[in-house]
Amino acid sequence: MFPAHRPRRLRTTPAMRRLVGETTVRPRQLILPVFVKEGLDSPAEIQSMPGVFQHTRESLRKAAVEAVQAGVGGIMLFGVPAERDAVGSGATDPDGILNTALRDLRHELGDSTVLMSDCCLDEFTDHGHCGVLTPEGAVDNDATLEVYGEMAVAQAEAGAHVVGPSGMMDGQIGFIRSALDEAGHTDTGILAYSAKYASALYGPFRDAVESQLQGDRKTYQQDPANAREALREVTLDLAEGADMVMVKPALPYLDIVKAVAEIADVPVAAYQISGEYAMVEAAARNGWIDRERTVLEMLTSIRRAGADIVLTYWAVEAAGWLDRG
Ligand code: PBG
Repeated sequence: MFPAHRPRRLRTTPAMRRLVGETTVRPRQLILPVFVKEGLDSPAEIQSMPGVFQHTRESLRKAAVEAVQAGVGGIMLFGVPAERDAVGSGATDPDGILNTALRDLRHELGDSTVLMSDCCLDEFTDHGHCGVLTPEGAVDNDATLEVYGEMAVAQAEAGAHVVGPSGMMDGQIGFIRSALDEAGHTDTGILAYSAKYASALYGPFRDAVESQLQGDRKTYQQDPANAREALREVTLDLAEGADMVMVKPALPYLDIVKAVAEIADVPVAAYQISGEYAMVEAAARNGWIDRERTVLEMLTSIRRAGADIVLTYWAVEAAGWLDRG
């Protein structure tokens, strides 16, 4: 009798497929990124990210409580300031929008979730770069580290459990670790955006934070052509004290997720970014793909590649679907 081997046997019924499924996605493995905007009267939907909002302090609190109730593992907070300047003063100001909202959330949620904050200057600078500039207009790595150190301490003081440096400056993890430790925040963790690529898919995020950027970030974010470089970045971040490492974007970089998961001895995260979200939402709105199935397939694929944790704008909704299943 041919064929002797019939892999289809393990696909015969839903119960059989459920039994032999290798990869799981659980709500606790998802982190919800959220935006809060200074001086906003009511939540504003982001046009290029339907279903995602710039929040007021009040609506942010509600969204965060809803996320915790849905069982998501954590929240990553981004701030949109009312005013910007060359050095991103709003980022280090304890009364800046991001630090204020962190205090609100920590007060509301305590330790019931893992509260994370973006530790980067691009939302706060009037030129939109992730760091401060030299007189010639280049991004000044070492001067930026000083600001990141201050920003991380302000975020820890405001209640962040974990800071997420996303600016791709050299030495940022070690510098932030020392700054936190010197300020007594030895328990504040660092989720390092270690392998962050200069991607075209950040477009909708830049709408969300009203980015002032002209040009690109190619002198600090990685070239999509390079894989080896990602491993070097991860190795450096681990040596500098990263508690978790991240690859970003997720879906076009699953080879990088897999390679990083093979070398990292800490949890690995992947960020399913704004452009990944927007593509699916747009296609689903046209009736061209099944939204729920597509989202769950992508999340499963990111986990299968080796990510322990996924940052996703669908975190709350996906948690609902996963609970059902
Ligand atoms: C930088 C930052 C960016 C994102 C997260 N942190 C934007 C950028 O590098 O331009 C993008 C996230 C997304 O696209 O969903 N603070």
